[in-house]
Order: sequence, then structure tokens, then C-alpha cells
Amino acid sequence: MKKTYNNIRGTLDFNPAEAFSFQKVISAAEKIFQRFGYQEIILPLLEERELFIKGVGTGTDIVDRQMFKIEGKDIVLRPEGTAQVVRYYLQNSLQKRGDFHKFFYTGAMFRGERPQKGRLRQFHHLGAEAIGSDSFYVDAEMIDLSLKILEAVGVKEKELVLNSLGCKDDKDNFSRRLKADLTKHKNKLCDDCRNRLEKNPLRVLDCKKGCRSDYIKQAGGHFIDLCLKCKQDFKNLTALLGDLGIKPKTDFCLVRGLDYYTKTVFEITSSQLGAQDAIGAGGRYDNLIEDLGGPRVPAVGFALGIERILLVLGKALETKKIDVFVAVGEEELFEAGFKILTDLRKKTFSADCDYNQKSLKSQLRTAQRLGARFTVIVASDEYQRGCVALKDMDKSTQQEVKIEDLASQIIDLK
Ligand code: HAM
Repeated sequence: MKKTYNNIRGTLDFNPAEAFSFQKVISAAEKIFQRFGYQEIILPLLEERELFIKGVGTGTDIVDRQMFKIEGKDIVLRPEGTAQVVRYYLQNSLQKRGDFHKFFYTGAMFRGERPQKGRLRQFHHLGAEAIGSDSFYVDAEMIDLSLKILEAVGVKEKELVLNSLGCKDDKDNFSRRLKADLTKHKNKLCDDCRNRLEKNPLRVLDCKKGCRSDYIKQAGGHFIDLCLKCKQDFKNLTALLGDLGIKPKTDFCLVRGLDYYTKTVFEITSSQLGAQDAIGAGGRYDNLIEDLGGPRVPAVGFALGIERILLVLGKALETKKIDVFVAVGEEELFEAGFKILTDLRKKTFSADCDYNQKSLKSQLRTAQRLGARFTVIVASDEYQRGCVALKDMDKSTQQEVKIEDLASQIIDLK
């Protein structure tokens, strides 16, 4: 028996309808990014492994378990975009070319996670990074921007969850205190969390196995321990979001699965998604640029998961439609039909025909399947008079049109 092949577990094939929805999400987002002054960058899928070890951090699931490594090389398929954008920023010394830069990117990310609904090994980010300002106005812009994109693509039901981890000192102090507190209750933690307690105590707050008990929630009530500046920035940010009509839910246990965050962290969730409920997430990373060998430059960003957006939007049914389908009544007229088709394409109409020259009935069915707005029928009687039949598929009306007038007639009827 011949062997056939399937896609790799945790990857998705997009059929034409799904690909159409995917591209609609990207083009709607691009318009909003542009409105907010973000410029597109396109970066490689491959990066040095160490970039993410240093950037995202050891003790995180992404670095410890999920990176796809190229055999025999210290190269990985990128698991996320932020460390990569910082690499790009530093490699090109952008700090010397203006003190504030705003970028957006779309593209595939790779994480070796256990696949389930909404959790893939290859997925796509719509991401934005603003590098060079510590103003809470930029945090608000990021949150507003991410919500505006979701609104534009049609995601109605969603919730913004917000927290502040505080600056590096606040985070370190909290981490130490959390470790001391949780060590006393070690027996209540799962095996993973006992491990996290040693390597990365804050990650215990993100435990998916229920270690986020009431006790931990209290321990996570970290806001009271923030320094004055971080506390005030967080209050200012929530007030500013209120002015923008955005009402976040504050969750002092929100820590995120990447180590570079400081101060503002946020997630946008949807109850339509089940266990993997984050459509997007982001936050401030004021130390990452320095940690990756650069100067001290503050930054903030987010990424939305395109596949999760598509899950919320539901089954994609619509495909890209064509303007005109050219059908021929008799086999001998195929050459004439092909000429008409080529001419329409030259005039920038999207047009197609049936190269297998089936019956007229079958060609009309194909026109319908392709969602043609018009069908041109080339039949010998009309063709001898220099004419074709132009069928308006929406109105189910038909008229005889001179071949030289075809394009202008289609424009008039459209
Ligand atoms: P993240 O939370 O790891 O953040 O990913 C952002 C979004 O990508 C998630 O909210 C989710 O929608 C989607 N996503 C993540 N993992 C998967 C997966 N395995 N399958 C499907 N979708 C997934 C980041 O990556 C940060 N770089 C975001 C950021 C940008 N922070 C600052 N700037």
C-alpha cells in the first residue's frame, strides 16, 4: 500500500476559507497598527538559542521544555517575538537613531507544547513593541491598540486582566518573600511548583494545576509591596484606561510565563476559548534590553494569537470570490473564451474558467462554487455577432453584450 502523509501534530492546515479569514484578521490589524503609528518589521524564524535563554529566562516552560532546536546547532525556531525584536533593535543600534521606536510584526512562532484546542506547536502572532519610553501612557496605548484590533476583527466577548509586577527591585523582593512564605507550605504544592519554588518562585502563581489556592492568592497580594512610583504608575494607568472606556479586571496573581516582564502585565481572555483562554497578552519589559547586552531602555508590547482569534470568530465559511467566470458553450470556442479571460485579467478583474471543458451546466456550477459575481457565456450564435452573454449571478439576470464592451459593462453593473 502507498504511504500518504499527515500534517505534524500541533500544526494547522488552513483551507481557502480559513486562509481568507486569517488574512482578513491580518489586514484589519495592519490598518489599526498604522493608525497608531506602528511600522512593520519582518524577522527570521530562526534565532540563536541563547537569545531566548537570556531573554525569556530559565525556569520558564518556553525555555526549559518547549524550544524546537535545530539538530547539531545552537539555533531554535523562534518561540516568541519580543526577545527577537530587541535583538533586531540592538543589532541595528536603533537607540542611536531616535529615542522611541514602535514596531509591529506578524508571523509563525513555535513551541513544543502538548497540543490541545487553542494550543499549537506552530501558531501565529500579531505583535507590537514600543521601545524607548517608560510612560504609562504607552502602556495604555498598547492595551487600547490590542483591544481595538480585536474589536476590528469582530471579537466581541473578551476581558482584560491587569496587574503590576513592580520594577526589578519590587519583583526581586516579592520573589524572595514568596519563596520564604511558600517554603512553609511546600507540602501543599504540586511537584512542578516545588521545583519552581527553587528556580523561579513567581511562576508558582501561574500554576495550572490548582496550586493557586487561596493561600497563594493572599501571598500574591503583592500590590501593597510595590514601591511608590510603581504603585502610582499602576493607579495612573487604571485611571487612564477608565478615561479610554476600558475597564480591566485586576488580578494580583497574574505573573505571565515569560521572565522579562516588569511593572504592567496584561492578558485578554475569552470564555469562548476553554482552558487556553488567552487571546493575547503583553506587558512592560524595562530590563530586557539591558539584559540582552544593550543600554537601559524601557519598553512595552503585546502579542495576539491569530489561531485563538479565529477560534473565537467560529468556523470560516467564506472564501475569496472572483469577479468573472468565463464559460464556453462549445469545445471549439475554448480558444475564444480563453482570450476573453486573459483580456479581463489584463483589465484587473479576477477571472477564471474551466480548463477541463466540461458541460455548460457543470461550468455554471463551478462559477457558483467560486462565488463568481458574473459569468460570461461564450456561445457560437452570439460569438459570430461579436457578442457574449453576461450573466449577473447575484440578480440572476442575463444580457447580450459586445465583447469589446464587456469590461465597461461589468463595471457599470457592479
Ligand atoms: P504569550 O502570552 O506567550 O506572549 O503569547 C501571546 C499570545 O499568543 C497568547 O495570549 C496566545 O493567544 C498565543 N499563544 C501562545 N502560545 C500559543 C500556542 N501554543 N498555541 C496557540 N496560541 C498561542 C508572548 O509571546 C509575548 N512575546 C507577548 C509580548 C510582546 N509581550 C511583550 N511584547
